[in-house]
Amino acid sequence: MKKELIELRINGRAHEVAIESSALLLDVLRQDLQLTGSKRACDDSSCGACTVLVDGVAMMSCTLLAASCEGPEITTIEGVSEHGSLAAIQKAYGDWGGAQCGYCTPGFIMTVKSLLAENPDPSESDIRDALSSNLCRCTGYNQMYEAIRSAIVAERSAATNSE
Ligand code: FES
Ligand code: FES
Repeated sequence: MKKELIELRINGRAHEVAIESSALLLDVLRQDLQLTGSKRACDDSSCGACTVLVDGVAMMSCTLLAASCEGPEITTIEGVSEHGSLAAIQKAYGDWGGAQCGYCTPGFIMTVKSLLAENPDPSESDIRDALSSNLCRCTGYNQMYEAIRSAIVAERSAATNSE
């Protein structure tokens, strides 16, 4: 099949990539650009393992055409660290043992980033609603939720200190 050259903006960098019109963003990220942090599990938008941000909005890259993503800024788990340091949510995952096998972790973290960008002070039900499409097969939800709550507190206190 004929390939077209498109430009994707990912984690603050422009990438030119030759793709078929039916190429899915997850495949382009993982196979063409070696950004393998976004994971493939269900392949039908039902587990959240492949979640990335498209202009800050959490989207599942396993069912998103790459060609439709020319223009917006795409953020993957590889772009979440801040100036070489772990983001608050990454650090909190480590501190609270939020990851077991870790396969679902990038998707959860991307969804939390999107939630906090939209609502820096989410209630427990806001958090649960936002994460309702992310599944963990290891079922370690308690530590994960502790990590998320702790990251929210850390981000709030960092914002207060910088005022
Ligand atoms: S792999 Fe995309 S939602 Fe499951
Ligand atoms: S930590 Fe293993 S799938 Fe979630």
